[in-house]
Amino acid sequence: MEYKKRIIITGGAGFIGSHVVRRFVNNYPMYHIINLDKLTYAGNLANLKDIEDKPNYTFVKADICDFPKIMELMKTYQVDGIIHLAAESHVDRSIKDPFTFAQTNVLGTLSLLQAAKNYWESLSERYEGKRFYHISTDEVYGALDFDDTLFTESTKYDPHSPYSASKASSDHFVRAFHDTYGMPTIVTNCSNNYGPYQFPEKLIPLFINNIRHRKPLPVYGKGENVRDWLFVEDHARAIDTIFHHGKVAETYNIGGFNEWKNIDIIKVLIKTTDRLLGRPEGADDDLITFVTDRKGHDLRYAIDSTKLKKELGWEPSLQFEEGIEKTVQWYLDNQEWMDNVTSGDYQKYYEEMYQNR
Ligand code: NAD
Ligand code: TYD
Repeated sequence: MEYKKRIIITGGAGFIGSHVVRRFVNNYPMYHIINLDKLTYAGNLANLKDIEDKPNYTFVKADICDFPKIMELMKTYQVDGIIHLAAESHVDRSIKDPFTFAQTNVLGTLSLLQAAKNYWESLSERYEGKRFYHISTDEVYGALDFDDTLFTESTKYDPHSPYSASKASSDHFVRAFHDTYGMPTIVTNCSNNYGPYQFPEKLIPLFINNIRHRKPLPVYGKGENVRDWLFVEDHARAIDTIFHHGKVAETYNIGGFNEWKNIDIIKVLIKTTDRLLGRPEGADDDLITFVTDRKGHDLRYAIDSTKLKKELGWEPSLQFEEGIEKTVQWYLDNQEWMDNVTSGDYQKYYEEMYQNR
């Protein structure tokens, strides 16, 4: 079949990437979707079980830092779009091991950009009909005080953690490839995501699983830090809209207008999980355990996504209460997924499913 577009989605076996891959594979049978993922600890092909046999889907195990391999894939699949989500994504890991973050997030992004440039510039139509869409985070803008106004697209970059510093650097490289070579790039900066298939090192899935197993809930500092939460499928829908209708060289902020103090979210998680498990209200309140704060813990993130609403008509579809209910229910219904992740068994999935094909 002659596909209308051939798109590499990097990091498609991760949390947000798997929702983006699923959406594109299901909604666009006329596109060939190539999921390029190294399958680090955060990559789990079981996240995509429901679409892995679709004819317009191909999985390739590769490292974005492997420049010759990326060049080869660009040519083999005649790629005209890249949606780049592959990254090291956990702040606590970046504090322990910043080198890996610089390697993957900065050099990996540069390797993709350079491969796209070399391939697209070798074609007669060059950059016409091409798109390099880079997914970034609101954390590049730094931290807000409680009374500061929200991050907009013109807020100055001021990253504090090795994670946000590496993402900020990658964003600059993407924009530099537009400004220097004319590559049609787009960058979006999104707030904290939650929903199914998130690796249980992040607050929401970790805490749901701990509540289920009556394990302590380690709250950093006083639990007063604020995050702006967006349901992951809303992010995937924003990515779809922006990939198709966003203006080249633009930046769009994506957020939920949904700020919560950590401690308040944690109380909602306990209440919802206990109710869905049929436990009496308040049964697990004593799991809350205040622990030493994260180093350099950013106080508050909050995104103003007015531009995206005004220009492209996107806005969040789910109320937070509804999203949290769906999310808790999903983790309770998918205990096998969670057990495979926490035991490490998920890493065998690739060997079994793909090695012998
Ligand atoms: P994740 O950690 O769940 O998934 C990352 C994926 O990238 C994994 O499948 C992993 O195997 C893959 N990967 C890592 N290194 C790779 C490499 N060198 N080559 C190829 N693949 C590699 O991350 P996520 O939470 O889904 O985040 C996806 C993107 O969205 C990241 O760029 C992140 O910075 C950004 N983002 C995340 C959030 C959030 O709340 N999770 C918010 C805003 C932006
Ligand atoms: P996290 O999910 O790691 O996302 P990010 O650091 O990118 O915002 O953490 C969300 C918030 O929850 C953040 O303020 C740190 C806090 N947190 C805890 O209090 N305890 C935990 O065990 C974790 C993982 C996070």
